[in-house]
Amino acid sequence: MPRPLALASLLLVLPACADSTAPSDGVDWTPVTDVLLINPRSLPNYAAQPLPVYYAGAVTREVQFPINNPPTNALATLGRVLFFDVQLSRTATVSCASCHHQALGFGDSAQFSLGFDGVRRTSAHSMRLGNARFNQSGMYFWNQRATSLEVQTTQPIMDGVEMGFDTAHGGFQALIGRMEGLAYYPPLFRLAFGDEVGVTEGRVRKALAQYVRSLISVNSRWDAAFAQVHDGSSLVLDLLAPLPGFTAQELRGRDLYMRAKPEGGLGCQGCHVAPSFSINGATRSNGLDAGETRVFRAPSLKNVALSKRFMHDGRFTSLEEVVEFYNSGIQDGPALDVRLRDTAGAPQRLNLSAADKAALAAFLRTLTDLSVTTDPRFATPFRP
Ligand code: HEC
Ligand code: HEC
Repeated sequence: MPRPLALASLLLVLPACADSTAPSDGVDWTPVTDVLLINPRSLPNYAAQPLPVYYAGAVTREVQFPINNPPTNALATLGRVLFFDVQLSRTATVSCASCHHQALGFGDSAQFSLGFDGVRRTSAHSMRLGNARFNQSGMYFWNQRATSLEVQTTQPIMDGVEMGFDTAHGGFQALIGRMEGLAYYPPLFRLAFGDEVGVTEGRVRKALAQYVRSLISVNSRWDAAFAQVHDGSSLVLDLLAPLPGFTAQELRGRDLYMRAKPEGGLGCQGCHVAPSFSINGATRSNGLDAGETRVFRAPSLKNVALSKRFMHDGRFTSLEEVVEFYNSGIQDGPALDVRLRDTAGAPQRLNLSAADKAALAAFLRTLTDLSVTTDPRFATPFRP
């Protein structure tokens, strides 16, 4: 299992510029370069992105690349092309990025996203994808029905609402036929897999999963401040250290978030775990509905403030509503996590002051990471 490099600095690797002096590899890349802003001879770094030192302890606990899909820049690049390609929907109108917008941390502003037919909508709210890689349980979707990112990534394509290649319309095989006719794919598949076998569902899965895993978020204001107080000498993170540049309100919100309830905090960190802010693998539901039996998970809270809708059904429209829900709205049910109960076993009532509610929301806003939303490596590779 490749262990990401632990470097003190947060490097942002810029995409390579076209290099006209590169020696010819004998391949005619014009079918690729005509359509895509990609230089196949000099790919950006996705596979060996440096992680901050304070990830060292976290990463070993968290899910990494499966053994049969080791990271390469060519696979992630192919995944990026697939992610932004509307040809992956039956009507050639919708790509993964139609519901996972880079500017929104790879989520959607709509409560329910519009599918390929422009009429029907998804039954759940779209999820932000930053730091999806660090999801501890390794299970994806709100209700954790996908057992890995590889398994997840081709499901939208074959979904009858999302992208429309369902069994009634030829299934994945119909998409393979279409992709073989698109001149940029054969060379990109050769680059990624090194042979002529071409397009298969397993390969599309691997490539898309690699692109999604490359969407690492380590440049929020919280990260920048935490990097200054954590030198990497210990795997134990002092999550309550004073953070340079944080306002008194943000620090108060940070303390409420990080401290456990018996220590005067709210215990958010017990489930939404720093430094990746991905959800703890053993989390049960958070009590949105009375009598709930289903167990939901959440995406990483990185860039949560860029979302317009919150929770699996997008029921809340602001972070203030989310905070009020944890303060006074949690409902009892068989799936409610014990961490959201009080000492008598009833759903927690936090009785927060207005100032503390505002402080908690202010802290959540420090998790905004504009490097994810603006990094050209993650942007559409299609020429305008
Ligand atoms: C029509 C909108 C739509 C399209 C198109 C779409 N998605 Fe999604 N995506 C969603 C919704 C909605 C969810 C949450 C669904 C659920 O949990 O039931 C989701 C969830 C996910 C997740 C799970 C994240 C997590 O943390 O569990 C991943 C990964 C993902 N999508 C990747 C993709 C990829 C890759 C594509 C393209 C092949 C794609 N999506 C196409 C709407 C869409
Ligand atoms: C017991 C675990 C647990 C605790 C403790 C917890 N959460 Fe959550 N949180 C969840 C789960 C599970 C979800 C997803 C629920 C769903 O949509 O069905 C969630 C969702 C969220 C979301 C919405 C994410 C999105 O992308 O829509 C935010 C924001 C959030 N929690 C913030 C907090 C804050 C702030 C605290 C502390 C007051 C907290 N959580 C405490 C488990 C927890």
